[in-house]
Amino acid sequence: MTAEPAGPEWARRRTYAIISHPDAGKTTLTETLLLEAGAIRLAGQVKARGQNRRTQSDWMKIERERGISVSASVMTYEYKGLLFNLLDTPGHEDFSEDTYRTLTAADCAIMVLDAAKGVEPRTLKLVEVCRLRDIPIITFINKMDREAMEVTDLLDDIQDKLALDATPMQWPCGSGQRFRGVADMARDEFILYRRPSADDQDPVASERFSLSGNSITAELSDDEHAEVREGVEMARELCPPFIEQSFREGHLTPVYFGSALRRFGVRELLDAVAEVAPGPQPQAATGPAEVLEPGGKEVAGFVFKVQANMDPNHRDRVAFVRLVSGSFRRGMKLKTDHGKQLTVSNPILFFASDREIADEAFAGDVMGVPNHGVLRVGDTLSESGKWRVAGIPNFAPEMLRRARLKDPLKAKHLKKALESLAEEGVTQLFRLQVGGEFVIGAVGALQIDVMAQRVADEYGIEVVFETCPYETARWIQGAPDKIDAFIDRHKTAIAEDIDGAVVFLAKSPWEVSYSQEKWPDVVFANTRERAT
Ligand code: G4P
Repeated sequence: MTAEPAGPEWARRRTYAIISHPDAGKTTLTETLLLEAGAIRLAGQVKARGQNRRTQSDWMKIERERGISVSASVMTYEYKGLLFNLLDTPGHEDFSEDTYRTLTAADCAIMVLDAAKGVEPRTLKLVEVCRLRDIPIITFINKMDREAMEVTDLLDDIQDKLALDATPMQWPCGSGQRFRGVADMARDEFILYRRPSADDQDPVASERFSLSGNSITAELSDDEHAEVREGVEMARELCPPFIEQSFREGHLTPVYFGSALRRFGVRELLDAVAEVAPGPQPQAATGPAEVLEPGGKEVAGFVFKVQANMDPNHRDRVAFVRLVSGSFRRGMKLKTDHGKQLTVSNPILFFASDREIADEAFAGDVMGVPNHGVLRVGDTLSESGKWRVAGIPNFAPEMLRRARLKDPLKAKHLKKALESLAEEGVTQLFRLQVGGEFVIGAVGALQIDVMAQRVADEYGIEVVFETCPYETARWIQGAPDKIDAFIDRHKTAIAEDIDGAVVFLAKSPWEVSYSQEKWPDVVFANTRERAT
């Protein structure tokens, strides 16, 4: 048995998410991290393809019983005396506003870049979301076993596109066929990559050599050795040094290199997360005080995602609650910030293998709370019901669709259905001021499909979500005269969101920039906090 570290339970939580552009290797890295940490033991999983390639675990049982896909939502493992909650950020076709919202529940992010591609558009978007709370980002440059961009170009790309100082913690030697490993700058060591044979899928055991010792020269050619030493020297002279405070404040990212597929560099990444990722932080809130402290007495948390049952006959929902304060115990009575009380007798706690601690959860943990639609995204749950956590916004949609009814007599029903599902966070909902048409907004196509399916299944309404001239939206704010003038000039593109806030529907992101230039006194906000 490992000795329990001193200090409160919450202080050993590390809650983080992995962000990347599709295909950079997030799924492969997730599996490899869990394998390295000893949280899962499976062979062949990585080789499975497509939809089935999900990390499986005991939680699948919950999934089968409830018909709700929760298994990949949070993955918990222990490593070096710490307890890690790895939050899933859906990508590919299941990319949705949930992906952004999940980042509001994380204290740290690993950004995975494809070494041949650098910073790609989706990564940029996700980093913008991390920026809202300045969460620290650790970078993993993946696929070094394939031809990569120059290291300096990769670092410049991070610096230029993300405005983040990039500090290489390692310096790679070659890439693709010529990839030999990475220098560990802090320890002045070289971690050797031994290329597996063509059909060998086993992980590559990493071997360390002193960079200045003799044995390294037996492994690397003179040229390779010189290349590494030059790279390390240049990085030490020219790259910003690692300053923990800048990292914690979200201004600097430490950069690691490797191959998730070959399991090379993954242990070093795991160690880095253990070493520098922050534990639960105080959370801005309104209520009895301005912040909720992770060590506070009162249990409080917020809902960052609600998942509906796949079976339309079940009204079950699971609300994912990130705890920010207190020690939760099964059976506790909690209240929402709008006064609804609920006994949390059957929470889903994600400690798959250790049932003994599954009856309690602490700040930093995530629990699934089954309910019948009482809990909405953005709700705060606490013992007193007096708290409201700040910083769980709605995000500007990246696709908009107009709702067209097949039977115009169902207009009232449609309004109710769309409002109720938008309340739940399935998509956003806007109503055009001129004409009163409904437009739904999403960041991923899946949200629109889910909306259509649920309107049909749960309300029996046939509705088509058709393309419309608008692509994105911004909440507009400013002095009333300026806002009125803007609205007057853009009447047909003005709508209200579900809380009655005024929204400008734009034909393209370019139109947003253009309008911003023309109307400097109007704020075009790309997020909005839900009203209480
Ligand atoms: P994602 O979740 O970020 O979308 O990426 P995923 O892990 O699914 O990886 C995308 C593809 O990249 C996969 O290829 C995966 O095997 C490969 N990959 C991931 N990490 C590495 C790496 O370190 N080195 C190399 N060479 N490849 C890597 P795939 O299974 O062939 O997928 P597909 O292209 O058939 O979809």
